[in-house]
Amino acid sequence: MTRIVPPKPPSRDGRFAFLRYVRAFRRDILSANPERLYRAKMAEFRIPFLHTFLVNEPPLWRHVLTERPQDFPKSPRMAAGLEPLLGQGVFLTNGAHWERQRRIIDPAFEGGRLRDTYPAMLAAGQATVARLAALADGPPVEVEAQMSHSTADVIFRTLFSMPIEDETAQAVFRAFRTFQGTQPLLNLGAFLPLPRWVPRLHRRATLRAARRIRALTGALVDQRRRAIAAGTAPDDLATKIMTTRDPETGQTFGDAEMVDQVAVFFLAGHETSASVLGWALYLLALDPGLQDRLAEEAARELGSAPDFAPDFAAVSRLKLARDVFREALRLYPPVPMMVRQATCPAEFRGRAVEAGAQVVVSPWYLGRHQGIWDDPDAFCPARWSTPEGRVAARDGFIPFSAGPRVCTGAGFAMIEGPLLLALMARDLAFAPVAGRVPQPEAQLTVRSRGGIWLQIRHRPG
Ligand code: HEM
Repeated sequence: MTRIVPPKPPSRDGRFAFLRYVRAFRRDILSANPERLYRAKMAEFRIPFLHTFLVNEPPLWRHVLTERPQDFPKSPRMAAGLEPLLGQGVFLTNGAHWERQRRIIDPAFEGGRLRDTYPAMLAAGQATVARLAALADGPPVEVEAQMSHSTADVIFRTLFSMPIEDETAQAVFRAFRTFQGTQPLLNLGAFLPLPRWVPRLHRRATLRAARRIRALTGALVDQRRRAIAAGTAPDDLATKIMTTRDPETGQTFGDAEMVDQVAVFFLAGHETSASVLGWALYLLALDPGLQDRLAEEAARELGSAPDFAPDFAAVSRLKLARDVFREALRLYPPVPMMVRQATCPAEFRGRAVEAGAQVVVSPWYLGRHQGIWDDPDAFCPARWSTPEGRVAARDGFIPFSAGPRVCTGAGFAMIEGPLLLALMARDLAFAPVAGRVPQPEAQLTVRSRGGIWLQIRHRPG
């Protein structure tokens, strides 16, 4: 079996002066950091007025995320960049406010409800295959943009029962792309030692795009509220969330709060899945034999035309598709770093952590950690079937985070990703384009500088 090592950003070599570090950091966090983070149990960064710990050791990240999450809430520095779009949405809040939001949202994403979203996901998957098939056997295709289109389609169909071709969905999608293009993952203010009262600068285009998205989703929420009152609302995620009462207070979300949550679902739910699907297609393109096996699995479990009627249970049998998707999540986790803030003094590996220090838990460094994984930089879906792979996953695989703030949509994404991969691999074959090796970097999620270009062909059959 040939060993496949897909692209990894170069690490910085040597020490940088502070300003050079800030500049490199602004370009791309992953390549601004030193190579030793792939080996370290913990790393400490101290710049004037800002003390940051990156914790890789499993007991330490578990302490922060799952055992003492109340002592390490989301860092307000991290939230600053996304506030214009997400307002007080569940992605950014903390404490009792956040707990109440999760009590209302979580029931919509439970296993039984996911079964109900399946027809909408399948329809979006079939639309994806049709779109890509129309581009097959032609010039190379940029698949990151294609996957953004597909996962936005999944979100609109499951949340509001409307395909991405709908005029409002299109307008939200366009405004979102503008927002994304103007807003880096981490507002630089988040990592500079500025006091909290210094206003964070957002570009005018960022604010305009956020306002436009919120106006459009506001109209959707308003329409839906009226349909619910009239008894004509479809049974989708939006209706479920808007009619769920907080078991403690009996209250539902107000319209303004729901607009915040829709922005969260759109951002957290489509940008992440698009990022990892783009990388998964690139990884598949590097291994034609694996693609053949995936196509066989997909045809066997999902069926093929003309009697194509997969049932929800078929997705759980897409084992190879799931292993490829997990391996893509390990190598290219869409959210490379999660930032928390210590609210009380602590001690990590004998070092004092003062209240206010930033604590970073990184799915990126954990997924490629040399002390956790065997041959961490190699693409090897087979590792997911080995006992060693499963042990490593417990310590180093947290692309959806962990603990009470774990991604609400993890179950949703673990159906959507393998399903879309299987549907695409069943009908199409992907190959790399000579001279176009993607360059991973941390944008809003982990994306490739200049996109991911692949040759697409119809699969004979
Ligand atoms: C492969 C796809 C996805 C990945 C890798 C992913 C990853 C993550 C991560 C790492 C977080 C925690 C961020 C932090 O704590 O700083 C998160 C939170 C969240 N995600 Fe996902 N996500 C994915 C898909 C989705 C989908 C499909 C939805 C909804 C439809 C969703 C909804 C959310 C929400 C609402 C939160 C906030 C939870 C909270 O703070 O309590 N995500 N996601």
